[in-house]
Amino acid sequence: MLRRTLLCVVLGLLRAQPFPCPTACKCVFRDAAQCSGGHVARISALGLPSNLTHILLFRMGRGALQNHSFVGMTVLQRLILSDSHISAIAPGTFNDLIKLKTLRLSRNKIPHLPGALLDEMVLLEQLFLDHNALRGIDQNMFQKLGNLRELFLNQNELDFLPANLFSNLGNLKLLDLSGNNLTHLPRGLLGAQAKLEKLLLHANRLVSLDAGLLRSLGALAELQLHRNHIRSIAPGAFDRLRSLSALTLSSNRLEFLPSALFLHSHNVTLLTLFENPLEELPEVLFGAMAGLQELWLNGTQLSTLPSAAFRNLSSLRTLGVTQSPRLSALPPGAFLGLGELRALSLQANGLPPRCAGPGERTGLPLRALPESDLQCPDPRGPPPHPAADSSWEAPDNPALVPSSPEPWAWAQRVATGNRQDHSLFWGFYVLLLATQAIITGIIVFTMIKIGWLFRKVIRERALG
Ligand SMILES: *[C@@H]1O[C@H](CO)[C@@H](O)[C@H](O)[C@H]1NC(C)=O
Ligand SMILES: *[C@@H]1O[C@H](CO)[C@@H](O)[C@H](O)[C@H]1NC(C)=O
Ligand SMILES: *[C@@H]1O[C@H](CO)[C@@H](O)[C@H](O)[C@H]1NC(C)=O
Ligand SMILES: *[C@@H]1O[C@H](CO)[C@@H](O)[C@H](O)[C@H]1NC(C)=O
Ligand SMILES: *[C@@H]1O[C@H](CO)[C@@H](O)[C@H](O)[C@H]1NC(C)=O
Ligand SMILES: *[C@@H]1O[C@H](CO)[C@@H](O)[C@H](O)[C@H]1NC(C)=O
Repeated sequence: MLRRTLLCVVLGLLRAQPFPCPTACKCVFRDAAQCSGGHVARISALGLPSNLTHILLFRMGRGALQNHSFVGMTVLQRLILSDSHISAIAPGTFNDLIKLKTLRLSRNKIPHLPGALLDEMVLLEQLFLDHNALRGIDQNMFQKLGNLRELFLNQNELDFLPANLFSNLGNLKLLDLSGNNLTHLPRGLLGAQAKLEKLLLHANRLVSLDAGLLRSLGALAELQLHRNHIRSIAPGAFDRLRSLSALTLSSNRLEFLPSALFLHSHNVTLLTLFENPLEELPEVLFGAMAGLQELWLNGTQLSTLPSAAFRNLSSLRTLGVTQSPRLSALPPGAFLGLGELRALSLQANGLPPRCAGPGERTGLPLRALPESDLQCPDPRGPPPHPAADSSWEAPDNPALVPSSPEPWAWAQRVATGNRQDHSLFWGFYVLLLATQAIITGIIVFTMIKIGWLFRKVIRERALG
């Protein structure tokens, strides 16, 4: 009863509006208003009190944001103005928003931001300008935003960025530039982003990657470069990315890669190179990627792979090489040294891959041997396992079989080490169950004992 009353009082306090809620708005919480359907140009007519901390305005009618829309709102922390077809913003519109931490202008039709628009927002942490029609950005636009953590400029029409655009954004952790029209990034553009963790550059028209561009990004964990027009990557381009864990280079125009490109990519777990016209891979490429778990090389023009290509990849679990029409032969022992490879996707020209020369095994179909590494079989020795002949058939475990028309498109190998892991796991499990049973037994025993004791005491009391 008391709890209920307290709850009512608290909710009442939260709902108590110190101002009359405008008709187009909902004012569910104190200091916050959410309005939709009004007109962008007439925001001030809504009569929102100037001491709100949160304002959400969405699906407003098409128009330009007027400079008196947010006058005096010096305590506003979060302003969301999305899905409203805003076509222009008057200079000075945000001048009073000195406490703002989040500004969201996503999904409008903004083609241009006036210079100095954001200069008073020195505390801003998140800025969403995505899904607009921005064609360019003034080089000083973000100069005052030293506290910015996340910047979304994706899905615009940017085809050029000034070299010092981000030079004061030393605290940036996420930068999304995907879905623009960028062909080149100027030298030094990312020179100040030592704390950047996620850089999204996919779906642009980048043609190359210089050695210097990524040099300062020591904290970068995720780099997305897929769906660009990249033809060349400078040697050493990724050398300074010591924290990198995911790198997507798929759907580009790469015909070759520089030798030792991933020499310092020890922490990369995912690398996609699929859908590139790659014809050949350098002999020294993946050797240092000890942490690599997924490698996608499908949809390329590769006709073979370097014999030691996967030699050191002891963490690899998935290797995709399907849809590479020229890949019809693999060097002997290509897969020796792969640690726990679980799923291998191989599909070449409608034929199982064959062993490349030189050597006696040349031309033999590659097999998945259940007890060892995938390798080119010894033509003299008997197959080490009866299942080896049908080794390109789908594995027993349906969870690992994709819906592929080619029966041998996927093969799976479970390393012996894994089996030991499993028995260890089961051992622990049984031990756990036994312990649980013993503890339960003790508890039940104690309860019964206590029950008897109580009965005895009560009976004695009743009698005495
Ligand atoms: C906000 O302003 C209104 C008057 O417009 C006042 O009644 C209310 O107490 C103020 N709220 C805060 C949190 O200062
Ligand atoms: C808004 O713009 C008008 C003229 O364009 C100017 O006179 C006025 O001072 C501006 N107001 C603010 C708050 O910036
Ligand atoms: C990108 O640029 C090309 C050529 O300049 C143009 O045809 C295309 O419309 C642009 N795309 C966007 C989203 O602006
Ligand atoms: C990256 O790998 C190095 C060893 O090469 C290790 O010392 C470092 O802690 C790793 N960094 C991250 C973020 O995992
Ligand atoms: C495997 O790693 C060792 C050192 O860790 C290195 O010397 C060797 O070149 C690597 N092998 C390949 C094929 O990259
Ligand atoms: C390559 O593999 C990726 C990841 O599974 C997939 O999305 C893509 O469609 C594949 N492309 C081709 C040509 O096989």
